Amino acid sequence: MKIAVLGTGGGARAHIARLAELGHQVHVGTRDPQATLARTEPDMMGTEPFKDFLADQPGIEVHTFGDAAAASDGLVISGIDGHNAVRALSAIADQLAGKTLIDYAVPYVYQHETENPWPTPWGTMPKIDPCDTDSLGEQIQRALPRTKVVKAFVTQEQTTVVAPQAIGGGDHTMFVAGEDTGAKQQVTDLLKSYGWSDILDLGPLVCSRGMEMYAHMHSAIGFGLGGHFGIKVVR
Ligand SMILES: NC(=O)c1ccc[n+]([C@@H]2O[C@H](COP(=O)([O-])OP(=O)(O)OC[C@H]3O[C@@H](n4cnc5c(N)ncnc54)[C@H](OP(=O)(O)O)[C@@H]3O)[C@@H](O)[C@H]2O)c1
Repeated sequence: MKIAVLGTGGGARAHIARLAELGHQVHVGTRDPQATLARTEPDMMGTEPFKDFLADQPGIEVHTFGDAAAASDGLVISGIDGHNAVRALSAIADQLAGKTLIDYAVPYVYQHETENPWPTPWGTMPKIDPCDTDSLGEQIQRALPRTKVVKAFVTQEQTTVVAPQAIGGGDHTMFVAGEDTGAKQQVTDLLKSYGWSDILDLGPLVCSRGMEMYAHMHSAIGFGLGGHFGIKVVR
């Protein structure tokens, strides 16, 4: 398939590499391809410059967000930072029309003022906004009524999303939520090709709220364990 991955961060790179390994034609989207490929410094998370990553990924094409989405034949993965995703995706609504868009972002707001800060190894824990009464997944769907939005991946780390067997032999749970049954099936098929076997359809996109709010629990477990993990729904 021709699959677009919008984004050049750590999560996007995990999908780019795995999709290429599975034989898909991957079209990467970034704000300004020239600027992205000219970067020589690691980002704030210490991620290596994108051109160094690409050196190990022959055949991957880098476009603007809009051109990458247009090049996909039906499936687009958004790895755009959660705080900027609605604005960036709204600008390419025409190129996303009729396609399935997987949103895995957490709408984190960094460097915010807070009465009761949660100290983390990288500074104060970002806050989640929107939260509780709305979600990023729903905001994206409202902004893109011609696109089938599916929330997925967000409850796992980038390494385990694309290689679930790395944890507990793969015996853990991945969630999907969205309004379109066919789109969720497309995402489920992709997840199976990544190696997932326990994929739980939570139902409508309003369930994005819980998936996004879980981010704080995910961080808390990660701090407690000090290593990679998955979550399993036992039933
Ligand atoms: N990494 C994970 O394991 C993981 C897991 C679950 C959820 N998430 C969530 O998924 C999202 C993406 O995570 P990530 O680590 O892959 O990448 P990230 O570093 O959070 O975001 C990088 C991407 O966001 C784009 N971006 C940044 N500011 C922008 C702006 N003002 N306008 C448009 N685009 C902008 C960048 O564009 P350029 O390419 O032009 O620089 C880049 O492609 C985050 O919300 C994160 O919390 C990540």
